[in-house]
Amino acid sequence: MISELTKEGINGSPNIPGDKSISHRSIIIPSISKGVCEVNNILRSEDVLHTMNAFKSMGVKIIESNKKLIVYGNGLNSLKKANEPIYLGNSGTSARLLTGLLASQNFISVLTGDDSLSKRPMKRISIPLTKMKANIETTNGSLPITIKGNDLMPCDINLKIPSAQIKSGLLLASLNTNGETNITENKITRNHTEIMLESFGANIKINRVDNKKTISIIGREELFSKNIDVPNDLSSSAFFIVAALINSNSNITLKNINNNPTRNGIILALKKMGAKILLHNQRSSNNENICDIEVKSSNLIGCELGPEFADLMIDEYPILSIAASFANSPSIFRGLKELRVKESDRLKLILLNLQKCGVKCKVEGDDLYIYPSKNYKIENNIIQTDFDHRIAMSFCVMGTKLGSLNIQDSESIKTSFPSFKKEFNKVGGRIF
Ligand code: S3P
Repeated sequence: MISELTKEGINGSPNIPGDKSISHRSIIIPSISKGVCEVNNILRSEDVLHTMNAFKSMGVKIIESNKKLIVYGNGLNSLKKANEPIYLGNSGTSARLLTGLLASQNFISVLTGDDSLSKRPMKRISIPLTKMKANIETTNGSLPITIKGNDLMPCDINLKIPSAQIKSGLLLASLNTNGETNITENKITRNHTEIMLESFGANIKINRVDNKKTISIIGREELFSKNIDVPNDLSSSAFFIVAALINSNSNITLKNINNNPTRNGIILALKKMGAKILLHNQRSSNNENICDIEVKSSNLIGCELGPEFADLMIDEYPILSIAASFANSPSIFRGLKELRVKESDRLKLILLNLQKCGVKCKVEGDDLYIYPSKNYKIENNIIQTDFDHRIAMSFCVMGTKLGSLNIQDSESIKTSFPSFKKEFNKVGGRIF
């Protein structure tokens, strides 16, 4: 895919698709609840379709109509053993959440994924589950993974890695476990699972003191379905937000965007950099915060972000690095260790590709330093993405400022944002 210079700016109102994290949970949780759930505005991207197919293969009736998905749940113990290994493509969220859920189901499951997912760490979820007496075999710490589902033991688990995927996997395991499981996170991570479980009537208590949060679940109590309206994805919006900020003559409005305070680090960070971003119509739906976002071209200033930001915007550092490349002063982003174990080693690829674009930058420990300039000379326009959708979309945005970047393996964009190209070109971007 080639991304080219935009002269007239980024303008209009692109359609941002449904939130990826909430979409996964909108299939998983209704599938193990009692009753029928109509899900509106679900993201139809490859990752989410893998989750949907996984539940279909375990006997859940899921009907896809025009804009809706209808999930017919039959309760905590209604899933059936899949006839074949469950293939999850590139989706880390499906892999971690399903590992937890299936650990307390009474049958054997095998989870597989594509090359990239098969390199990602799974012990981060299997080890805490083992504390609950789960029986899980990984392949050298990754997929394929075999889960011999059985009755688990409730216990207290203190999470070492800040990860919503791990937390959610454990919450799903404890739903079908007799007794009270207490899961403590020491840093706040996205809380979509807790929000949905509460609204489906789970016996769940949350105790938060500053950034330490303990979630207590009493398991083996049935959940009851409710309809879900999936809000649009802030992470997908971020590519358009930054494109509008760094290009002159830009003004965009993004509608119905999820503004969950455990996810909105990108807005806080960009505002700290002087971005002209306004949040309109702030409201709530299914206990998720939602708003419309207006963005105008801005003169950005560099900033220093501590590791606490990483927990609130881990997926947004690739696109934030593009914004920082066009600021008036340097930026330092600290504590980015987790970026190394995403769909690619994102820290490595941010550095490599920014350098190809002529941006002076370095990584020291887990910290990223960016020294912007007014004049970039592209050294090599072939952008290496290692099939990572967020790296690909971020460098499409870079191309709007620098001209002709050749984004390799950009088909990965389908994992989270199949209509990206159409929407990007609609508002004045140029990718083909
Ligand atoms: C996700 C959690 C995050 C994020 C991923 C989606 C989720 O991963 O990077 O894209 O839906 O729970 P970690 O929680 O492992 O950091």
